[in-house]
Amino acid sequence: MTAEEMVALSRAHTLYEWSAQSQVDPIPVARAKGVYFWTPDGKRYLDFNSQLMCVNIGHGDPRVVTAIAEQAATLAYANPFLATEPRARLGAKLAEIAPGDIDTFFFTNGGAEANENAIKLARAFTGRHKILARYRSYHGATAGSLSLTGDPRRWAWEPGMPGIVHVLDPYHGIERGWDTAERALSLLEEVVELEGPQTIAAIFLEPVTGTNGVLVPPDGYLPGVRALCDRHGILLVADEVMSGFGRTGRWFAVDHWGVVPDLLTMAKGLTSAYVPLGAVGMRRKIAEHFRDRVFYGGLTYNSHPLACAAALATLRVYEEDGLIERAARTGRVMADLLGGLAARHPSVGAVRSIGLFGIVELVRDRRTMTPMAPMGGSSDAMRALGRFFREEGLYTFVRWHTFFTNPPLSITEEELREGFAIIDRGLTITDRAMAE
Ligand SMILES: Cc1ncc(COP(=O)(O)O)c(C=O)c1O
Repeated sequence: MTAEEMVALSRAHTLYEWSAQSQVDPIPVARAKGVYFWTPDGKRYLDFNSQLMCVNIGHGDPRVVTAIAEQAATLAYANPFLATEPRARLGAKLAEIAPGDIDTFFFTNGGAEANENAIKLARAFTGRHKILARYRSYHGATAGSLSLTGDPRRWAWEPGMPGIVHVLDPYHGIERGWDTAERALSLLEEVVELEGPQTIAAIFLEPVTGTNGVLVPPDGYLPGVRALCDRHGILLVADEVMSGFGRTGRWFAVDHWGVVPDLLTMAKGLTSAYVPLGAVGMRRKIAEHFRDRVFYGGLTYNSHPLACAAALATLRVYEEDGLIERAARTGRVMADLLGGLAARHPSVGAVRSIGLFGIVELVRDRRTMTPMAPMGGSSDAMRALGRFFREEGLYTFVRWHTFFTNPPLSITEEELREGFAIIDRGLTITDRAMAE
């Protein structure tokens, strides 16, 4: 199919997400390998966002492709009331790598469904209904997960699911900066007291916030939330859909602070998106709760053999290639490169990264830290920067006044520098757009 046909038919007969359809202008993609993908016309893009922060092992790894093909030939599907080898092996493998005593998993089709089922598990386990989630968050686009979501994607869906209360997190935007861990914890505790701790089933959070800013919490914050939850019998749910599987340089972001959540949701890097799969992992006390009680939840594609086989092969790639340690190592190079951008470009207001999870916040004015585009919107300068990246063959997410640097964990230092060289040139656009 030609590039033009691909785009025209996709636009004519399929609905693009989060968009007014007349505004979408998709890049046609024919194939991908490693950190690159190509259009049907042969234009090459360096994938600096691992697609949607999910192709962590890189594109087209033959070990995963073969595992999928072999599983498809042997047993493509078995319903979730049965037992299969890939399901059995994946549950056991995840129990090895998940923190603490998280050793039981419920498999879903993706991240949003993992969070939906975490809501169910938390409410059933505690017998409470209220859930706290943070404003600077994204938890998925299904009914419950979008109600949990704090960012503007929630607005059109309101009033959404009842019983969800949003709270502030330690970051208040580029103009106002960060709370200390103590201050953020005392504000959270105040909300818990005002809502009635005995009514709260769970606190959901992204341990390192993803699309809302690669927000790395101050040390002490996550252990403090853990202690607060323990004091009140509230479950801590870590949404590691984006931050899991090596993105931050550890298997899971909570591992940086030694915190064991009660429920841990995952997707994306679990299969590196070769096949859709999500999961919610639970601590033993929660799994035991359902030993003699019914878990009221189910999905036709729960524990899909093809997806479980893809996940097992993906986990083997992380281990065989040492990709988790590699992300930590290459992440240090990326942090230096981000620091270099901040030093050279006045429009760079802030850079943050942990492992290969990075973001640049752009400002119109470094004194006032006025963002280059408003929350939920864009600006001429941000659109021009996005166009420049596209023309130059750098694929990444440009969102509001930010853009991301989230390459596959397999990226080499040379490929990383290739991407940053394009970014370096592109930032002259936003430098020029600064307030006089
Ligand atoms: C932190 C987080 N949670 C949940 C989701 C939703 O996952 P999915 O799109 O697979 O439903 C995402 C997706 O970007 C995410 O980043």
